[in-house]
Amino acid sequence: MKKNNNCDFSIKNNEEDVELYGWASKVRNLGGIIFIDLRDRSGIIQLVVNPDSSCYNIAENIRNEYVLKVNGIIKERINKNPNLKTGDIEVIVDYIEILNEAETPVFEIDKDDALEDTRLKYRYLDLRRNNIKNNLITKSKIMMCARDFFYKNDFIEVETPVLSKSTPEGARDYLVPSRISKGKFYALPQSPQIYKQLLMIGGMEKYFQIAKCFRDEDLRADRQPEFTQIDMEMSFVNEEDIMNITEKLFKKIFKTVKNVNIKLPLMRMKYDDAIEYYGSDKPDLRYDMKINDVTVILNEAEFSIFNNIVSNGGIINAIVVKNAADKYSRKDLDILTDFVKKYKANGLFFLKYNDEFSGSIAKILTDSISKKLLKSLKINNNDLILITAGERIIVKQALGALRCKLAKDLNLYKNNEYKLLWIVDFPAFEWSEEENRFVSCHHPFTAPKDEDIDKLLTDKAHCYSKAYDIVCNGYEAGGGSIRIHKADIQEKMFEALELTKDEINEKFGFFVNAFKYGTPPHGGLAIGLDRLTMLLCETDNIKDVIAFPKTSSASCLMSDAPSIVDDTQLKDLDIILK
Ligand code: AMO
Repeated sequence: MKKNNNCDFSIKNNEEDVELYGWASKVRNLGGIIFIDLRDRSGIIQLVVNPDSSCYNIAENIRNEYVLKVNGIIKERINKNPNLKTGDIEVIVDYIEILNEAETPVFEIDKDDALEDTRLKYRYLDLRRNNIKNNLITKSKIMMCARDFFYKNDFIEVETPVLSKSTPEGARDYLVPSRISKGKFYALPQSPQIYKQLLMIGGMEKYFQIAKCFRDEDLRADRQPEFTQIDMEMSFVNEEDIMNITEKLFKKIFKTVKNVNIKLPLMRMKYDDAIEYYGSDKPDLRYDMKINDVTVILNEAEFSIFNNIVSNGGIINAIVVKNAADKYSRKDLDILTDFVKKYKANGLFFLKYNDEFSGSIAKILTDSISKKLLKSLKINNNDLILITAGERIIVKQALGALRCKLAKDLNLYKNNEYKLLWIVDFPAFEWSEEENRFVSCHHPFTAPKDEDIDKLLTDKAHCYSKAYDIVCNGYEAGGGSIRIHKADIQEKMFEALELTKDEINEKFGFFVNAFKYGTPPHGGLAIGLDRLTMLLCETDNIKDVIAFPKTSSASCLMSDAPSIVDDTQLKDLDIILK
């Protein structure tokens, strides 16, 4: 390979002849001398074309983003640029070839002011920017690190089909019509879940894959319809084994990619505690501000709103924002009230403390209640107390979200600080209002706790599972479980999810059947590669870590996918559009 990277060169190469390739990032003509910043993937190096150079007339025609081949000699710079990796040197050019011209780009590559839609439409130009380019380099390092880790730990990398059968991960499937079997569809995998379990039945013992997954669901800043998992599965293991190996992988990735030391073992928190104290199953532990239950204390007040809520089984919870009373005006608090209303909370009451309480419910506090609040919430002067009351899960979720918003507004954390933990002891089921039935909290292959197997059909609300999520800075970075490996329990689970025998046969018949031929105990986990990359790149926008991402309406602004297809294609597929 002939090409050297710009940033391979330093003062050590002084007086060496070099051949360079790249894009003209900036061209300046200063009193006859032409300076060109030559950009390649590694970075920028300064080219100098003197008026007496034989290639001067070529250099005069160079515009931004022209593609160049250059020969020259490296010289130490007089005016060094400490902001540039190659800032001690420049290349005195004696040969330039314009390999390709370029139209004026629709946005300036070296500036950050282009609108996201424009950047996505011209993503190939956006990729030339340091920001996105470096994120992709980070992602590449994570993948290499993960592969290295798995190979060293005796895993084998196995591919699984993309034209597959539906795997229930809780989202809608992307379907692909079959031309040969008219009227039938493949589903793109929501994850390789079923296949990786079949690989265990097939005796692979330790599998991993960097796998594409497809989910048709509402998109958010940390969700894409098409994303990547670092997926793994192992036989003859328990929860501890999977959690141990995952922790080691995280430690290695954080150290190699970011030089951050993660202390093992990671902290573990029960799902129920996460909801109780943080209102979320992915708590951000970079800051405190736990949710406190003040139901008993505040229900002592004669205040019909609280009294009615509590007598109907509701709760009153509070978060204390330390030393922030003076930072929040009435208007700011109205904004917070509107914020919690988005999470279905009725409203937000507030108290400020400065030797005495003031605020929207100060007048309902008796001396005794005030004392109890001060003690139980460890309140100091200038603390702000935010309170909401209502149905438990709504109160928890609203305050959980408010906690994150306050921490962001008050700059209570840094993006390059990492707090990892495990969430364990998940319920096996959660109630779905939409479907009016219990659905799997993880997926239907997750094993219930041994002591809860009997509750599968009789007490779903109190049936817990052998599932675990790895959480970092408020993101679910990965999740997995020990699987059911006995056919009768798997069938019971399907029954618990109210699937009929026919549905089970139609959807998972092949899978349940495989269980009859000697299924090893097994379990695994999948890490969201894009989310992990977001964390390590310190961005909260998943699009920043995907080369060609989709918008929130699941379309690609660059290629216009999804798009209309030819009538003949539809005819081949036997599809008529309404
Ligand atoms: P789960 O559904 O929890 O588990 O997915 C694993 C991880 O994938 C990431 N993730 C996503 N990232 C971006 N966009 C999305 N739409 C998206 N959905 C999920 C998250 C999540 O933690 N088969 C199981 C794993 C197992 O049980 O082994 C599964 O897919 O970081």
